[in-house]
Amino acid sequence: MNDLLKPFIQVNQPLIEQQLDSLIVDIKAPAQLKEAMAYSLQAGGKRIRPLYLLAVLEELNVQNKDAIVVASTIEMIHTYSLIHDDLPSMDNDDLRRGKPTNHKVYGEALAILAGDALVTLAFGIIARLESITADQKIKLIDQLSFASGAEGMVGGQVLDMHGEGKRLTLEQLEEVHVNKTGALLSFSILAGAIIANASEDVVNALRKYAFHIGLAFQIQDDILDIESTSDQLGKTAGKDVLSEKNTYPSILTLAGAKEQLQKQYDLAMEALVTVDLHNGLLEQLANYITKRSN
Ligand code: IPE
Ligand code: IPE
Ligand code: MG
Ligand code: MG
Ligand code: MG
Repeated sequence: MNDLLKPFIQVNQPLIEQQLDSLIVDIKAPAQLKEAMAYSLQAGGKRIRPLYLLAVLEELNVQNKDAIVVASTIEMIHTYSLIHDDLPSMDNDDLRRGKPTNHKVYGEALAILAGDALVTLAFGIIARLESITADQKIKLIDQLSFASGAEGMVGGQVLDMHGEGKRLTLEQLEEVHVNKTGALLSFSILAGAIIANASEDVVNALRKYAFHIGLAFQIQDDILDIESTSDQLGKTAGKDVLSEKNTYPSILTLAGAKEQLQKQYDLAMEALVTVDLHNGLLEQLANYITKRSN
């Protein structure tokens, strides 16, 4: 890992874990529901989305004590999407983050409800923040709702599901990936810009960077599904072929998928040059995403 990123992750990852714990510890809810929420939320994971938000603030030299809270709410929504993605009626997976999936432990009904509770809680937490303005909160809530809902992640999941067993074009698959994965990852980056009150130029550059890096993230996920092992991934490898999913390797071959990954990386980096954000954490995060092994 690169020289800026390693210490950045070492400092921030434990803070994110702490924040996630504290966000659910005080809610008044049935014990089993809280347990099911905590089970998936505290199972680890790379925490790439919250790290991205914090990295953008660091690159823009802005400090805000609510940033880590917003970052953690994105992880709550991401975790909900994983719980539901693993359900028998969706990808039907038994392993996630190195542990049995939520529904394997708590049953389908509670897994669905734990997901529902995580996503709804996330919006309320943002609404109650104190170190950002009402305008910023409304922007965050609006764009998070857009990124995670029908016009973003949920819509992408539907396209992914409808594509099973059919052959999509590359353009159609790009749309699936940009929505099911790119939208929420992009939001993490843009949320940093919202909290930092970034200039229009910076927002536009980050938006471009985020689009390409969000797509790259899912291309690498597709590649890892083929090249990695379940042990290494903490989730079942080889699942996409079995489920007849459309993936970058299934449409372009593994070599073609890797070329696309490089292309998206290059486009992402290109977007940062004009605003002089290309030599720091955002470059190293992009590098990490395209070369990661889980
Ligand atoms: C997995 O996301 C699902 C996708 C959107 C590709 P991550 O690869 O970020 O999973 P965790 O959070 O590290 O477990
Ligand atoms: C999931 O894509 C995207 C989500 C919105 C959760 P995948 O189905 O490929 O994610 P994994 O491989 O199960 O983590
Ligand atoms: Mg899926
Ligand atoms: Mg899946
Ligand atoms: Mg996958």
